[in-house]
Amino acid sequence: AAPTRYEAESSPATCAGAIESNHAGYSGSGFCNADNAVGSAAQFTVTAAEAGSTTIAVRYANGGTGNRPADVLVNGAVAHPGTAFDPTGAWTTWVTKALTVPVNAGANTIRLSPTTAEGLANVDYLEL
Ligand code: GCU
Ligand code: CA
Repeated sequence: AAPTRYEAESSPATCAGAIESNHAGYSGSGFCNADNAVGSAAQFTVTAAEAGSTTIAVRYANGGTGNRPADVLVNGAVAHPGTAFDPTGAWTTWVTKALTVPVNAGANTIRLSPTTAEGLANVDYLEL
């Protein structure tokens, strides 16, 4: 089936920072600029049709000079530690990163939790 898009700026998603719209190219009405700190997370609540391994896509921009690594947690468990969100060259350059994660049938939380003081890249949406 076609993926469902979950915007970072729309409930039930949460953003430990500010929803902003000052860097063009995002989907929807804005993006999550989480605070630049360890653990300042963006979280999505998504629905999976069936249990198992599935691919998600995270759209982000990182106009900084360094990687902005984050743990990717599914339902509270780390599925991918220290996942790289590499620089994209500009805050207006948005890319998608694909990851395979284990999900339950029905609702799941997917949390991007930064592991360095630089915090997350800006996060636009997650698709599953
Ligand atoms: C700039 C940019 C923000 C970004 C921040 C950061 O302030 O405008 O969108 O989140 O850098 O380095 O995290
Ligand atoms: Ca930021």
